[in-house]
Amino acid sequence: MIITIDGPSASGKSSVAQKLAQQLNFIHINSGFLYRAAAVIFLKQAPNYFQNNSKNNNPANQPEFLQLLSQLKYIYNPATNRAQVYHLDQDLTPELKIAQVSQMASVLSANSEIREIINKLQRDLVIAQPESNYIADGRDCGSVVFPQANLKIFLTASIQVRAERFCRDLLRQQQAKQKAQQAPLQSDSSQLDKSQLAPIDCLAELTERDQRDLTRTVAPLIVPAGAVIIDSSALTLEQVVQKIKQLIA
Ligand code: DC
Repeated sequence: MIITIDGPSASGKSSVAQKLAQQLNFIHINSGFLYRAAAVIFLKQAPNYFQNNSKNNNPANQPEFLQLLSQLKYIYNPATNRAQVYHLDQDLTPELKIAQVSQMASVLSANSEIREIINKLQRDLVIAQPESNYIADGRDCGSVVFPQANLKIFLTASIQVRAERFCRDLLRQQQAKQKAQQAPLQSDSSQLDKSQLAPIDCLAELTERDQRDLTRTVAPLIVPAGAVIIDSSALTLEQVVQKIKQLIA
């Protein structure tokens, strides 16, 4: 069985998919991780991409970069309910949530050749273990990658609610980063970069991401044919999970 969850940024897709995977014993395919891993590899080769904004650095012009992408390995561990992405023997997972990586992933995701490779990586996971059940989340999982999915969900929420969630996530990531660096955390979080957390910035950032997802020519974000639309604006994570479980039953 394959379940897909598509939707805009910060609609809660990955959290819902992760929880469902754990409760149902499904394999979670977090397709955003693969775009992010592509971005990590790209930025290692072109660390000054954003500063130079060089057209010569366009990923579409680098066949050897596409070759590197096809070597990505996505591993879901059911014991920890966590996914990791490796390139050769290197674990890229710790770098996937860096802000510059998010920005680069968004740029790369508009490239059709990159999308083809990442789509194949996802389909190959299912081909390798056809007896398993899968839950894939992203922007095009139900429309392009797994159009044959048994259940397709389009998860959305109001832009205000998503902006709040986005801000909370940023805060959590910054706190985790500080912890990892063993910097003493102040209880009022005054050490954190509040400039990144102003609600208006989150709103602007999300609006921009929505625009890019919706208007790109290759695999834009759409409600897949036959998908059930769930608006999670007024729902908790567990309530969304329960709603989807009812649709499976
Ligand atoms: O869901 P996310 O924020 O981790 O996704 C990272 C980027 O990859 C984001 O810019 C959208 C893009 N993406 C995509 O285009 N198609 C997918 N199936 C998954 C993610």
